[in-house]
Amino acid sequence: MSKILITSALPYINGVPHLGHMVGCLLPSDVYARFMRMMGNEVLYICGNDEHGTASEVGALKENMPVQEYCDKYHARHAQTYADFNLSFDYFGRTSSEQNKEITYHIFEQLDKNGFIEERTMKQVYSVDDGMFLADRYITGTCPHCGYEKARGDQCENCTKVLEPTELINARSTISGSTNLEVRETKHLFLNLPKIENTLTEWLKTKEAFWPDVAYSIAKKWLKEGLQPRCITRDLKWGFPVNKPGYEDKVFYVWFDAPIGYIGITKQWSDEKPNERNWKDWWLNAKDIRYVEFMGKDNVPYHSITFPATLLGTKEEWTKVDFLKGFSYLTFEGGKFSKSEHRGVFAEDAVKEFPADYWRYWLMANAPEASDSSFTFESFVGTINKDLNGVLGNFVQRVMKMTASKL
Ligand code: 2FM
Ligand code: ZN
Repeated sequence: MSKILITSALPYINGVPHLGHMVGCLLPSDVYARFMRMMGNEVLYICGNDEHGTASEVGALKENMPVQEYCDKYHARHAQTYADFNLSFDYFGRTSSEQNKEITYHIFEQLDKNGFIEERTMKQVYSVDDGMFLADRYITGTCPHCGYEKARGDQCENCTKVLEPTELINARSTISGSTNLEVRETKHLFLNLPKIENTLTEWLKTKEAFWPDVAYSIAKKWLKEGLQPRCITRDLKWGFPVNKPGYEDKVFYVWFDAPIGYIGITKQWSDEKPNERNWKDWWLNAKDIRYVEFMGKDNVPYHSITFPATLLGTKEEWTKVDFLKGFSYLTFEGGKFSKSEHRGVFAEDAVKEFPADYWRYWLMANAPEASDSSFTFESFVGTINKDLNGVLGNFVQRVMKMTASKL
């Protein structure tokens, strides 16, 4: 019997999951966890909501409620949806938990002590009316290259040119529409990835034979392009306040504490029954653990480079990923899922219409492994009627009937 730690990428709390989220990490990790349990292994299967960041602040603002309340509301909604889909998490937690805060602080202190954190001053757009610095994507304006009027501060979606927010003409806050914007200087903390690069490269080499090609090649590509220091702090209110003098009014960047959330959520799980469970048995100086991560392919760089580098930089023995499974995307009738445009099938509605197993079967049969796949109602109806109910259902029914007749 082996000890298998399984994590599914943590869904953002804002918004409700659609079928693409289900098939991109949640459902495959569940199927894997169920299979590994059936094979007699000791499995710990962890997931939860990724709660921090501007998106939650903006979501709460739109719904006119405090961020904490907004997160509580959506956390309950996510948890219910996954229960309805029969996902068999051992624990579905939250990155905003006290346990995650404690571990995030510890990891940050280790990185700082080991000389992997550096200070930098940078210029950022501040919205006077919103009272906050704006993330690049929360600034809208006219693209200086093609004249598109709704270009975002990080990229023009019309001509695809990468932009600096200060290049936009008639820049305005996406949150309030205010044009009362100023460029202000602000100090931030960076994780010095170049200093950890050699250790990371050596670690990554040990994974080449085990990781699927897609994941390994994404990680290699990032390393080949050369790692840059990454900013791990933000001028926001919602998040863990930075535990370093002079930075108390800033919070950690959502992508810093989100993957640490796998550990923090495991501690939430173990704190419920401290006499029976110990999160360290899975994460710190843990012996003989096989750690398998599931995620969409856009998450691969964070999980193959940034998060392992963060753990390596502590110079402590944290469990790191042994097998990293990345999925491509699911499209809806050939286009993108979009909540704002009401395009797609959303998980909480899906289970009201048909049994969860119908969705689970179609999604796993069409999981976007090698390339993107498309959900269409025609394919759904065909697969469920023919394959699931017709072929498999019929087969099971005949076997049961024959077995019963011989008893
Ligand atoms: O892409 C996403 O949905 C992120 N919320 C995934 C985070 S995974 C982990 F790092 F928390
Ligand atoms: Zn443009």
